[in-house]
Amino acid sequence: MAEETRNLNAVQLRKATVLDANAILGLVNQLALEQIMLPRSPASVLENIRDFVIVEVDGEFAGCGALHVCWSDMAEIRSIAVSPARQGLGLGRMMAEEMIREAEALGLPRVFAFTYVPEFFHRMGFDVVEHASLPHKVFNDCLNCPKYQACDEIAVMKILKEDALPTLSSLPMPKRP
Ligand SMILES: CC(C)(COP(=O)(O)OP(=O)(O)OC[C@H]1O[C@@H](n2cnc3c(N)ncnc32)[C@H](O)[C@@H]1OP(=O)(O)O)[C@@H](O)C(=O)NCCC(=O)NCCS
Repeated sequence: MAEETRNLNAVQLRKATVLDANAILGLVNQLALEQIMLPRSPASVLENIRDFVIVEVDGEFAGCGALHVCWSDMAEIRSIAVSPARQGLGLGRMMAEEMIREAEALGLPRVFAFTYVPEFFHRMGFDVVEHASLPHKVFNDCLNCPKYQACDEIAVMKILKEDALPTLSSLPMPKRP
């Protein structure tokens, strides 16, 4: 834990509940207006509320982040954000490390993110990778993104386990009745 984080009074990291949705939307969409991150709709936050971790300081919402499982061999860190007044105190690291632990516990060998702050992720052990190395992301989410033709986010990835789990081709598909 960073020295600054230890100096904060009561820092609590916990899973989100639906009661956090307004605070998540408020923070993420405020930062999205500043073109720092992509916006989220209420539906996308609520449908994925189990993905989110929340950090609180003295009982007050101070930040959020989401770990979204994309496939059997990868998860994405999405919408990681700390309230402007609380940035630079180690709270982003706390949430990122928690989500990385969660990914490990789920057996996922890779975690990636699309970001405008690759330096933050670099500190967490992520490396910059080509967008093309994440075809699942590109074919699913990116196609619906307004920035699809001109994506300026940087893809970063952290390898958790070298021996990757089964990929699309080796997963059993359901048979038609
Ligand atoms: C990016 C963000 C989540 C980081 O959270 P934070 O609590 O401010 O960061 P921390 O204090 O935990 O910093 C952790 C490490 O990352 C580094 N870091 C954090 N933000 C950085 C930045 N913008 N540029 C370079 N390094 C950064 C810190 O120096 C620190 O390094 P160290 O631990 O090796 O000393 C936060 O600043 C934020 O909400 N930014 C706006 C939203 C955003 O850009 N989200 C990114 C995902 S799209």
